[in-house]
Amino acid sequence: MGIEGAAESVAVRWARHGVSVIDHPLVQHKLTLMRVKETPTVEFRRLLREISMLLCYEATRDLELTATTIETPLTTMQAPVLAGKKLVFASILRAGNGLLEGMLDLVPSARVAHVGLYRDPKTLTAVEYYFKAPEDMHERRVIVLDPMLATANSAVAAVDRLKERGASDLRFVCLLAAPEGIERLRSNHPDVPIVTAAVDEGLNSHGYIVPGLGDAGDRMFGTK
Ligand code: PRP
Ligand code: URA
Repeated sequence: MGIEGAAESVAVRWARHGVSVIDHPLVQHKLTLMRVKETPTVEFRRLLREISMLLCYEATRDLELTATTIETPLTTMQAPVLAGKKLVFASILRAGNGLLEGMLDLVPSARVAHVGLYRDPKTLTAVEYYFKAPEDMHERRVIVLDPMLATANSAVAAVDRLKERGASDLRFVCLLAAPEGIERLRSNHPDVPIVTAAVDEGLNSHGYIVPGLGDAGDRMFGTK
């Protein structure tokens, strides 16, 4: 089929809304395994860590480089190294920690902020119970981590809080997003691009992403 007749890809459609959908086959395969309800905790955690590295690759693709002079065993050359702003990974507790480890494997020098939030199961509003972030947030790129973007109440509360602390260059990285959550996060914080492995159909009456993968925190930590 020619280009003209090809259906627009999901990634291209969402890119217009500030959302990068990582449709790489490895990400999609691992995400399917995570969705399966029989996948045990140990496997779920391992898969999330692996996917987080691939999402990190996308969330950091526009980091600035500068040239430095090095000597290889054969000659001298100008080679690229990271320059400019340093990174902070801001993990929305608890489930954000599942994305954190893989990110730190790739960027071990990054600082870490923790935003403790839980969703009130009746109102679905985010309740803060902990906040700790580096002092120099205004000098850093902040990558906010949470596997699930459902109503976006948690994401909006976390970004509000991080901006209060001085952050102005933020990205939001998740595993699954609902269209409702994307709309809410983008309308509250249009300056914050979203990186996700998939955009699902929507939310059920309890605010869960459908088809989704269930409660990410519970599946990651083996709680109920
Ligand atoms: C889950 C998830 C997000 C939030 C998403 O956390 O990890 O933080 O729900 O939902 P929202 O977009 O509607 O706010 P939860 O509150 O269950 O806490 P937990 O990570 O401690 O399990
Ligand atoms: N939080 C989760 O862990 N899963 C959902 O589907 C929605 C919010």
